[in-house]
Amino acid sequence: MTSRTVGTVCLVTGAAGFIGSQLAEALLDRGYRVRGVDAFVAFYPRAQKEANLVALRAHPAFTLIEADLCTADMECMLNGVDVVFHLAAQAGVRTSWGAGFAAYVANNILATQRLLEQASKSGVRRVVYASSSSVYGNAADLPAREDSLPAPISPYGVTKLAAEQLCRLYTTEYGLPTVALRYFTVYGPRQRPDMAFHRFIRAVLRGETISIYGDGEQSRDFTYVADTVAATIAAMDHGCPGACYNIGGGSQITVNAVLDTVGRLTGKRPRLDYRQHQPGDAAHTAADTRAAARDLGFAPRWQLADGLREEIRWMEARVAGNAEPSV
Ligand code: NAD
Ligand code: UGA
Repeated sequence: MTSRTVGTVCLVTGAAGFIGSQLAEALLDRGYRVRGVDAFVAFYPRAQKEANLVALRAHPAFTLIEADLCTADMECMLNGVDVVFHLAAQAGVRTSWGAGFAAYVANNILATQRLLEQASKSGVRRVVYASSSSVYGNAADLPAREDSLPAPISPYGVTKLAAEQLCRLYTTEYGLPTVALRYFTVYGPRQRPDMAFHRFIRAVLRGETISIYGDGEQSRDFTYVADTVAATIAAMDHGCPGACYNIGGGSQITVNAVLDTVGRLTGKRPRLDYRQHQPGDAAHTAADTRAAARDLGFAPRWQLADGLREEIRWMEARVAGNAEPSV
């Protein structure tokens, strides 16, 4: 704990989620006071989010507000807050088409605008926003740099880019210091149940068949959750106001190669069913992280196999405890 952390109040939106809950724990470990907010949106079961909150709820420096950022009293929520980590969102690339889009507009754009509007009036010294590699779509040149032209190929990516632009505007027009972090496919314990590794590991452990979208040769710059959290905390003090930074784990690998690794680490051969490519799914992602290294001191520490082992351990406990709903 340093003199800087003592008394500093951090608001973490999406605190019951995969990344937000681990960010809140890391902030508490460093001596910050944390106010979490979450609406427990129905995208995946509340039970998983409650499990994420167990250690947080027991911590004396943590409070949880159950509220929807689209309707909550923002003045009250931000009263006394020094730093905002804005992770609440309707996540998920492939579910953002069709009727589901309204939830993406509300939870990703409207919620962000309401938060920024009040933060600009409440003396908040920094907003760190969880943006996404999905703003790049199928980037023309890889690894993508922050000054590459954003061209999302999913409605989700459009909403994440819109919110990122709102952050920039509140910095340039209202002087609110915001920093956007473009996370690249995050994995590790507590991963959301719509995401690939969660589904792959659960299916392998249960001897079920895995659906692969497309030929499995798409690749991602997978990022371990602890590296993501470390970058997010560094952005509070070291990010340049109005800037965005790529946060990628440096583990670019195809889905097929991930499945081989899961098979090797579990000692079980995955059963695979190759299906149609999903609209909105980028062919490849890769992050140029030189700006994050320079300004945030970002240096991913986790190799894919080590991070996968942690997620497998977490999933084994859930499967053994019947905490995974059947699909
Ligand atoms: P998550 O769904 O586990 O967590 C998001 C949380 O936000 C959920 O608990 C949800 O209930 C809450 N929420 C949603 N709308 C809300 C609202 N209107 N008011 C209050 N709470 C609300 O998702 P995650 O994977 O932890 O992602 C966290 C953030 O990181 C999101 O902004 C996401 O877009 C971004 N991101 C995630 C990844 C990834 O690979 N997981 C990659 C890039 C960016
Ligand atoms: C992830 C997150 O889900 C988004 O919230 C986030 O914004 C995005 O990363 C990002 O980096 O910005 P995605 O890359 O699609 O999106 O991550 P996964 O859901 O883990 O999928 C990875 C790959 O596996 C995709 O190509 C997907 O089509 C494939 N996949 C996923 C399958 O083949 N089968 C499945 O059952 C699930």
